[in-house]
Order: sequence, then C-alpha cells, then structure tokens
Amino acid sequence: MPTDETILITGANGEIGHGLIQHLCSSHQARIVATDIVPLDSSLQAACHTFVQGDITDPALAARLGGEHVFTTIYHLASILSTKGERDPELAHHVNVDGTLGLLRLASDQSGKLGRPVKFIYPSSIAAYGIPDLETKQRDGRVVREDEWCFPATMYGVNKLTCEHLGRYYAQHYRRLDQEAPMRIDFRGLRFPGLISALTVPTGGTSDYGPEMLHHAAQSKPYACFVRPDSQLPFMVMPDAITALLQLESARRENLGQLIYNVTSFSPTAAEILEMILRAFPAAQITFAPDARRQGIVDSWPADVDDSAARREWGWKPAYDMRRSFEDYLIPSVRQRYA
Ligand code: SER
Repeated sequence: MPTDETILITGANGEIGHGLIQHLCSSHQARIVATDIVPLDSSLQAACHTFVQGDITDPALAARLGGEHVFTTIYHLASILSTKGERDPELAHHVNVDGTLGLLRLASDQSGKLGRPVKFIYPSSIAAYGIPDLETKQRDGRVVREDEWCFPATMYGVNKLTCEHLGRYYAQHYRRLDQEAPMRIDFRGLRFPGLISALTVPTGGTSDYGPEMLHHAAQSKPYACFVRPDSQLPFMVMPDAITALLQLESARRENLGQLIYNVTSFSPTAAEILEMILRAFPAAQITFAPDARRQGIVDSWPADVDDSAARREWGWKPAYDMRRSFEDYLIPSVRQRYA
C-alpha cells in the first residue's frame, strides 16, 4: 500500500481493532487514524498517526475526522455485539445503524474530495442469519449461503443486515438531489463467524463461550459455558480474520461479484472446543450451564457457512484449521500471556 493512503479504523480498541492495527503497523506504510469511545490501549498508540476518542454516533466526531483527513479506506469496526444488544436493543440500533450511517455519509463526502470511491470495509456477522429453530438448523441450516436464512433473531443481526443494505445503497444508488454527480463508495462486507483471539477477549457477544472457555482455562479459573455441549457454530482465529479483511480490501473491484461474503474456517461443537482445551489444560474446570436466551441465539445461527464465493473471487483460504488454530496459535499464545 503506498504511503499516501490514510486509513480510518473505528472501534480501534476492540478485538478486531487490536489485531488489525498490529498487523497494519508491521506490514503497511499507511497513516492510521483510529477512533474509539474509550482510550486507546497503550500498546496500539505508537502504531497510530492520530487517535481521536469519541462516540461514532456524534456528528461532531465525523465532522472533525472528515475535516482533518482524506481517507482512502475506512474499516468500520465499532459495534455493540449480540448479547449486549439484546439487553438494550434501541441502543444497539443507535450505535450499530445510526453510527454506520454517519460513516457511510462521511465516506461518500470523502469520495468526492478524493476523486475516487473510498473503500468501506464492513465486518458483518453470522448474526445476519436467523434459522427458526434447532430442528431446522440441524436439518436444513448446516452450510448456509449468503442469500439464505436472512431473518435475524437478534437486534445485532438486524442491525448488521440493515447496514449491509445501507452499504449497498451508498455504493450503488446514493445521489442527493442537490448533487450533480453521485459520490459512490466502494463498499465491501464480510460475514464473520465467531472469532477467537489469544490476545484479547470479546465483550457482549454470544459466540464468546469459545474464547471464554480458553482464556479461563489458561488462567486456571472455573468457567460455566452458557450453551449446551452439542451447540455448533462456525469459528475463525483472529489472524485469519485480519487476513480476510486485508484480502478483501485489496481485491480488484472487477473480481468482486457481490458486496457481502461469508468467510469461515472450522465448525466445532462447544464439546469439541472443550476437548481441544483439555488437551492443553487437563485440569481446566469447565462446566455447562446453558442460558436459555443465549442458547436460543446460538441455535438460530448456522452450524457452518458456505464461503465458496470468497474463495473463488478473491482467493480467501484460512491458514488455520481447528488443529492448527489451537496447537500453533491459541494455546502457545495464551500460555505465554498468562505465564
Ligand atoms: N461474535 C459476535 C457475537 O457473538 C457474532 O458476530 O455477537
């Protein structure tokens, strides 16, 4: 990436933000402008050209960012996740949808200044899917394509699907009546599975039982998993998630036949995650105490997704299958972290 690139990263202090900023600062020359509602982790400060603390739903933040910089790419990572979203659905809508709308508008204005479409990279989620019940999930919802089962059962999923459509609108149809020419953006979205990082733990999500089991076991802390052992979801480790974001960002537009792509790596049950963890931490104290609301969310998400479009169109391929994720990345890194 040439040095005249300026990248905006929202939600910089979150899990994906950590992984993305660490990767970009070691491999790219671009200027990183980061924003988050909380102060930036000290480990990320040196990597960022500028950090602005603020609320993405505050129009003054977008105005300040847009006034001071011309962005070539925006990674819009800030979001309230699925479990937290069910505690306050209207707040989730405000942050996840109104916040995204403000940034899409910013990207559109910036495309005018830049003279070409700003790339807007958007992490969507398996939460965009909603399978009506467990029986249907087991029978028909095993490997789901992007256009199937888009009936989310959580506010977070509704928000993600809404923002996918807003991204499509700003990429393909946006043109204000007072504008002579449209200022379209280059919107690209990924539907991520549950993500597991060795360096951070998620907050407020529903796939969190995977990373929570691991991080508790590594610290010899007891953990009660909030879903049944047979619960099955697609997962991916953070290095693959970062690779997917960067590959999609750098893909040639003419190779992209759709705006939203599934990406995934492995699809374990909660019992299979525990089995991998017990191999490394045989004394781990992990029990199962399913929570009906969170179990219902997991049962509405597909057991696996079809990511063949991403593989075919922009060369997506996870580097970490389940064995390699645990043996080469997660276990050695959490051991070191909690040593
Ligand atoms: N990890 C997210 C959640 O559980 C799904 O995208 O909410």
